[in-house]
Amino acid sequence: EKGGYDHFMIKEIFEQPRSIADSMRGRLNAAEAQLQLGGLSNYMDKLVAADRIVIVGCGTSWHAGLVAEYLFEELARVNVEVEYASEFRYRNPVIKENDIVIAISQSGETADTLAAIELAKSKGATIFGICNVVGSSIARASHAGAYTHAGPEIGVASTKAFTAQVTVLTLMALAVAKKKGTITDEVFERLLAELDNIPSKVNKVFESATKIKEIAFIFTYAKNFIYLGRGLNFPVALEGALKLKEISYIHAEGYPAAEMKHGPIALIDEDMPVVFLATKDSSYEKIVSNIQEVKARKGRVIAIVTEGDTLIPTMVDFVIEVPDTHEVLTPLLSVIPLQLLSYYIAVMRGRNVDQPRNLAKSVTVE
Ligand code: F6R
Repeated sequence: EKGGYDHFMIKEIFEQPRSIADSMRGRLNAAEAQLQLGGLSNYMDKLVAADRIVIVGCGTSWHAGLVAEYLFEELARVNVEVEYASEFRYRNPVIKENDIVIAISQSGETADTLAAIELAKSKGATIFGICNVVGSSIARASHAGAYTHAGPEIGVASTKAFTAQVTVLTLMALAVAKKKGTITDEVFERLLAELDNIPSKVNKVFESATKIKEIAFIFTYAKNFIYLGRGLNFPVALEGALKLKEISYIHAEGYPAAEMKHGPIALIDEDMPVVFLATKDSSYEKIVSNIQEVKARKGRVIAIVTEGDTLIPTMVDFVIEVPDTHEVLTPLLSVIPLQLLSYYIAVMRGRNVDQPRNLAKSVTVE
């Protein structure tokens, strides 16, 4: 059932061109510039009128929420707060009747996320569920929602579920933006076309798999890792670090690149691998200077760059290229090399990648 692969995780990583396409199928029609999210249509007016959106989730799903924060703010110009479900539910959160809560959960069974939406519901909020498992508790407890069509995810470390969540949240942000008129038709159409191209661009990232395996071999016995990114690539840095921790048991931290100088820079020496998300986007120049700061302290830098970048390869130890895309879609590509890097490192360390110690696929206890 692993389809010839050694582990479910690697099978699921390589399934992403299809799982992303499946999550858009019947919703996105790039040729006709049409976007339709059936599950949301009855609540579209509420979404458009909302003053604020609160996103709740745990782990990787929380990271997808952080990506969505950028998307909804940038495209739909709405206030977004992203909360760990476990923190949200035990505070006394201010929730008003016209608030929208988006719950993100692969399994649809995460106890803290379920409790968070029950709390928000009791205060009159409208709940949208973004779940992968059809008929799951969170899907049933939501007023409306959109499923991710990632297919069953067996590996404990979430991979294809994350990119499917980001895909569906992008469609949602675009649908709201279009309805609100916060983006031009031209940008809307360009983004639909770019989304349509994402599955084939993910396939292009896979061409670097051998190179990533070589890098993994070099860093197999690293004791620590730092992942740095800015903007939309900040949550990707968090996700890269989480993937590495959970399956290889290497201590890893994700950080916003600019925050590094407020503390973590003290960790940098010739033994510290630093993964930079350094794609050509609006924070490119800033990332370049962050890379200089790390190199000046002899850190070993692995940079995820946009295809054709000629500057960063002269500055760093290793580069992994991803195809160019519209800035807001970057996470769908930049996360892929990080999934592969953590997978290969974990395999080389002899870890049980599909079932890491102490972890369960769905966390139904708080
Ligand atoms: C990370 C991972 C966990 C889950 C988290 C939420 O690889 O698997 O961090 O993302 O437990 O699970 P769901 O999305 O099922 O609510």
